[in-house]
Amino acid sequence: MRLRRNRRLRTNPAIRSLVRETSIAPTDFIVPLFVTEGKGIKQEISSMPNYYRYSLDLLQKEVKELWAMGLKSVLIFVKVSDHLKDNKGTEALRAEGLMQRAIKTIKDVCPDMLVMTDVALDPYSTYGHDGIVAHGSIQNDATNSVLAKIALSHAQAGADVIAPSDMMDGRIFDIRSLLEQEGYHNTAIMSYSAKYASAFYGPFRDALQSAPVDLKNIPKDKQTYQMDPANRQEAVKQTLMDIEQGADIVMVKPGLSYLDIVREVTDAVDVPVAVYQVSGEYAMLKAAAEKGWLDHNAVMMEQLLSIKRAGAHMIASYFAKDVVRLL
Ligand code: PBG
Repeated sequence: MRLRRNRRLRTNPAIRSLVRETSIAPTDFIVPLFVTEGKGIKQEISSMPNYYRYSLDLLQKEVKELWAMGLKSVLIFVKVSDHLKDNKGTEALRAEGLMQRAIKTIKDVCPDMLVMTDVALDPYSTYGHDGIVAHGSIQNDATNSVLAKIALSHAQAGADVIAPSDMMDGRIFDIRSLLEQEGYHNTAIMSYSAKYASAFYGPFRDALQSAPVDLKNIPKDKQTYQMDPANRQEAVKQTLMDIEQGADIVMVKPGLSYLDIVREVTDAVDVPVAVYQVSGEYAMLKAAAEKGWLDHNAVMMEQLLSIKRAGAHMIASYFAKDVVRLL
């Protein structure tokens, strides 16, 4: 006689669905969108199969489609022309810049869509860094004042949520202070708080052509500001500091290799935690599926469930549309 048999609750689909602890819904997702200048452009990103850069006219169509599918949050990234790049992100501040126009375009066609914007210098930087480069290093405080101004200009253009992805110290405080001072009390901040110096961002840097360049005295990676993948404790410290400084939502990034961090952070904080399932995670599965080595949809669902099970309240994912089609 066995009093306890775990298989009883696995007998059929109905009972399994009854006892299932985690589920995936369209409202879990933030959809990253890549925007480019021009007209009629829908350009596939070579290292991200079936993912595209859109010009503003086609972005309208895409956003309406997302909304119709029940996807209600987008996170915007812009691909900036090389001739507009400099060391201090001048273009990022322009009221008529691509990001600012993208925000307005989305709000025009789909006013209820939650518009989140990436705030960082790298797409605007000649050097591909998230901070101003001077005296052989990435300048922290000078970068923060620019980031705060960029955030304000996104808020003025109509962004609902500002998402700083740079990892400078104190940027949340500077952004929050300026938004408060200028009356943007309800503009939320989603901080990329535990963002690791990860090699999984490769395809994203292809998408925006924003990879760091060779510089004397400055490493070609982002290890002096993004976190060391070896560290756990630091993730909690960094996240708590961002919350103290006014972050409304915090983030762990990348996803799958950092699920221990997701659990640790969600247990430690009292704000929603986002997970960014990044470009390299997307690319790996697409490649394996293309070769017939993995079942795309099954692995995709398993990975997303794992991220939620680890504690994520929301997931920024390039799979969002694939998932909703499947549900
Ligand atoms: C820019 C930024 C990056 C990502 C989001 N914002 C790249 C980086 O930090 O180098 C990566 C997203 C992805 O790989 O999907 N600061």
